[in-house]
Amino acid sequence: MTIAIKALTADETTARMDALVEILCDVVDGGGSVNFLAPMDRGMARSFWQGVVPAVASGDRVLFVAEDASGPVGTVQLEIVRKPNQPHRCEVAKLLVHRRARRQGIASKLMQALEAEARRQGRTLLTMDTVNGSPAEALYRGLGFQAAGVIPRYALGTTGKLEDTLVMYKELG
Ligand SMILES: CC(C)(COP(=O)(O)OP(=O)(O)OC[C@H]1O[C@@H](n2cnc3c(N)ncnc32)[C@H](O)[C@@H]1OP(=O)(O)O)[C@@H](O)C(=O)NCCC(=O)NCCS
Repeated sequence: MTIAIKALTADETTARMDALVEILCDVVDGGGSVNFLAPMDRGMARSFWQGVVPAVASGDRVLFVAEDASGPVGTVQLEIVRKPNQPHRCEVAKLLVHRRARRQGIASKLMQALEAEARRQGRTLLTMDTVNGSPAEALYRGLGFQAAGVIPRYALGTTGKLEDTLVMYKELG
């Protein structure tokens, strides 16, 4: 399967709204802990993506999608930190791959594109957090992220049970 990775404009984001909603719902309903509880409410998923559109328009976020012939199957966001004392930092957010497209290297490709964009913008530090011991942790470690530490009982998993969070970072040399 051919996968294309692209950064979307605000209009392109709006045009792909249904597919983005579908990806978020599939990930949360599949147990992915990304700030929401299962079953994922489609209206809430739509509100989330609608909230991303102005951030993409302003350049505060760069939204990447991975698309196959059927359309978007994965996504990730680079949040450009605007704090005056952190002009070198970006946050990684909402790395999501639809269950039907997993273990084909799509998340890795999305993260490579994200990292290239961070470098292009002169950023040298990527930070994020993920569920301690999750598949995502394995992915990020494989991409060179390091663990800063664990915060116990940080957030509810999709089924409502408290889970530990691992704060991770990567310095871009
Ligand atoms: C985590 C997630 C993004 C991975 O997407 P993916 O496209 O399947 O990942 P890739 O195919 O690029 O995997 C790259 C490597 O990461 C690791 N990895 C990925 N999924 C894994 C899993 N379920 N278990 C163990 N290792 C895993 C493996 O080392 C894998 O390499 P391999 O397939 O050669 O063994 C996807 O499972 C997902 O959307 N999960 C739910 C949402 C989530 O947790 N997002 C992260 C929020 S911080």
